[in-house]
Amino acid sequence: MPWNPHMSRDTLEYHWGKHHRAYVDNLNKQIVGTELDGKTLEDVILATYNKGDLLPPFNNAAQAWNHEFFWESMKPGGGGEPSGELLQLIKRDFGSFEEFVKELKAAAATQFGSGWAWLAYKANKLDVGNAENPLPSEEDKKLVVVKSPNAVNPLVWNYSPLLTIDVWEHAYYLDFQNRRPDYISTFMEKLVSWEAVSSRLVKAKAGAA
Ligand SMILES: [Fe+2]
Repeated sequence: MPWNPHMSRDTLEYHWGKHHRAYVDNLNKQIVGTELDGKTLEDVILATYNKGDLLPPFNNAAQAWNHEFFWESMKPGGGGEPSGELLQLIKRDFGSFEEFVKELKAAAATQFGSGWAWLAYKANKLDVGNAENPLPSEEDKKLVVVKSPNAVNPLVWNYSPLLTIDVWEHAYYLDFQNRRPDYISTFMEKLVSWEAVSSRLVKAKAGAA
């Protein structure tokens, strides 16, 4: 890792240049000429989730979305602590910033096999996939840490994703081999962009209002 101690050029070239690229290319092949063609990525994800035969386009659409979101969750010289309303809500919903980091790291480290760990804004208190909360209140709206297998992301639960860590092996194996916790710590301490997370929180709250 000659030029970047936190995420190597090799990892970026494989992860962004080959893995992410393949999800985009495969999705485009799978949906050409179908009714999914021309929909937004988010709409393809919601239209294909848990729909049996539509699993291949779901996987590729969700992975394309997740990766774009992941790249935009980091920046050179990232890390540190959030500020403003984001920090206030983290303290309210997790007790402290340290407790939140502990919870997110644990979710990322314990996702069995491939998947993702997330900070999300949850605007609806019901955890039932096919129901809406008829009487939403301000108290329902909170930050949550969740993990998801394979390509699944919190959009399918009607949560607003704010931050993600890719814990597929392709995200860390070249730099950290099997040491997933070291990759997660490096991401949180050196790469995460709290500015990106804060601006997503603003949009999530506006969308839930
Ligand atoms: Fe990935």
